[in-house]
Formats: sequence, structure tokens, C-alpha cells
Amino acid sequence: MTTTLNIAVLAGDGIGPEITREAVAVLRRLAAQGHFGLNLGSAEVGGAGYRASGHPLPEVTLRLAQQSQAILFGAVGDFSLDNLPRELRPEQAILGLRKSLGLFANLRPAIIFPELASASTLKPEVVSGMDLLILRELTGDIYFGQPRGVRILDNGEREGFDTMVYRESEILRIGRVAFEAARKRGRRLCSVDKANVLETTQLWRDVMTGLGKEYPDVSLSHMYVDNAAMQLLKNPKQFDVMVTGNMFGDILSDEASMLTGSIGMLPSASLDANNKGLYEPIHGSAPDIAGQDKANPLATILSAAMMLRYTFGLEAAAHAIESAVRRVLADGLATADIDRPGSRRVGTAAMGAAVVAALG
Ligand code: IPM
Ligand code: MG
Repeated sequence: MTTTLNIAVLAGDGIGPEITREAVAVLRRLAAQGHFGLNLGSAEVGGAGYRASGHPLPEVTLRLAQQSQAILFGAVGDFSLDNLPRELRPEQAILGLRKSLGLFANLRPAIIFPELASASTLKPEVVSGMDLLILRELTGDIYFGQPRGVRILDNGEREGFDTMVYRESEILRIGRVAFEAARKRGRRLCSVDKANVLETTQLWRDVMTGLGKEYPDVSLSHMYVDNAAMQLLKNPKQFDVMVTGNMFGDILSDEASMLTGSIGMLPSASLDANNKGLYEPIHGSAPDIAGQDKANPLATILSAAMMLRYTFGLEAAAHAIESAVRRVLADGLATADIDRPGSRRVGTAAMGAAVVAALG
């Protein structure tokens, strides 16, 4: 008997609907092949949520997400809503989902596909063979710390402030996920902080060092975030797994994505303590190309593969998707963002259909 997967599909804004459509087609194909049963629900989120019911994370959407085992998320962001009060902006939907579902562990792999080594802005020899996993803490740090705001000083001047804060328990739980991940890969973990300046990250470093004693088989190193940003460009292949806080992870993962040639290729997983997860491409809603059949659906399709692996433990099905993507790239198919000499240019739907076909 196959299990039925309960998945919430939250397509969101911009290119979100067209890229999630292709990932859903891939999941349906695997279901038709007997890998699993599918129970899909969908709801509005982000700007679409705001337009439908006045809030970027409507009550029904949150409830659907809570009741599902996994969430396939497209993208949120809509320039025309940027003037709304912060709590109503589309981005609040993803922050609200992360926080309310306790999705503290964000996995952002940056892998270079051989066909795309020349698409990177770095020299092919610097990036080819790169296989890096960034683990970003996702529910703490300056993103959620209180107090925060803009206050008026006695002299009438405005002052903005946010709070960087981490509890030991928060550092420990992301640390454990990172050490376990390193154990399954190259057994090297680099913890990134700014311990030379910030108290919060001195604690981060101390806790990681202590935790390292439980994982003698993993070699732990520490790096300041400014140096890490530089080292990613200088020699990205020195890294196996990186673990860092929410703010630094946001920045470093965007940087790492560009080493691979296209941000349109990179998936991500955000997991809670029980491997329930939200899966999304790391690129945004790209409103400039929305609805034009130009977006690359591969990051979302690869996010669906991560979902099958991490939430459902369906390694064979996850692997089938990744192999199909590799085959399509090897065949020379390319959306605009990964166009290269000799490739065959296709749109979003044709790229998705090619992956479905490659699944057999
Ligand atoms: C990301 C995004 C989000 C973040 C935004 C959209 C709130 O940049 O997932 O990296 O800052 O975490
Ligand atoms: Mg970001």
C-alpha cells in the first residue's frame, strides 16, 4: 500500500503560480507511477492573500499549512504592495509561516550542475564540483528579536532599532541539525559568526564548540562572517556544510546561489523538529517576468525532491526527480536564466514537461 502525502500548495505571487504548477505536475507523475498517493490543497498567500482576504497570511491559508505534512511554496512579493504597513506586506506571509510552524532549520544547498559551470560569474575551475550546504537558523535572531521599532528621541530625531538575540537552546537545536547533516556528507562543518564584535555570536561560537564535543567525527571550524563572504568567492570548494544565524544566512545563501550560475536552480527546505517542512525555491517572485512563460521551474521542482526526501523519507522518488533534472540539462534544454552556447531555449511549461517526460 502506498502512503498518501498531504501537501499544501501555496503558489503566491509573480511567477509563483507558473513554477509551482510544474512542480505539481512532477509530483502527479510520480504518483501516477505508484510512488505515493497525493492529497493536494491550495490557498492564497502573500500579495495574493492580501488581495483575496486583506492579509498576506490569511487564516485559512495558515490552517491549511498547519494541517498539511508539507508545504510547497512558490514565492511572495509584489512591488505594488510595498507601501502597505510592514505587517501587511507580502513578505510577512513567509516570516509568519516560518515562525508559527516552528520551521527553524533552513537547508540551502548550492550545487553546481556540470552543464552550468560556465554560467557562473566565477571561473569554471573555481566553482566546478562545488557542493555546499548552508544551514540557516530561521526563526530567531534580529529577524524576530524584540524590542524593535522606530522611536523619537528627546531632540526630535528618529532612531531605528532591532534586537539581535539567540538563546542557547535555539543555537543547540540548529547546531544538532548541522552536525547531523555534516555527518551524512563530508564531515566538515564551518560555523559562521561575528564573535569578534557581537556578544550574541560569541555565545553562538561557544555553544557550537561545546556541541562539537558530541560529534568528534565531524571537524568543526569557525569563521567570521566577513571572511566567510570573501572565502565563498575565493575558494567555495573549501566548504562542506556551513551553519549560521538568520541574518548572516540570508546574505551568505544569496551569495552562494550566484556561484552556481543561476538563482533559478536552487531549492530549499525549512524544517521543524519533526521534519515537517516548507519547500521553496530561493529566488523571489520576479514580477518583471510573471505570466510570460519565462521563469525557470527547476528550483521549485528540486524543492519538491527535497520534500520527498526530508519530510517523507522517499529517497528513491527524490532521486528520480533529481536525475530527471540532470537529464534535461544534459539534453541542452535551458530557460533564459541558464541559456548557454549550444543550448535549446524553452519556456517554463516546456521545461516542466521535459522533466515529467524524463521521469519516464
Ligand atoms: C529569504 C528571503 C526572505 C528572508 C524575505 C522574503 C523575508 O530573502 O528567504 O531569504 O529574508 O528570509
Ligand atoms: Mg534572502
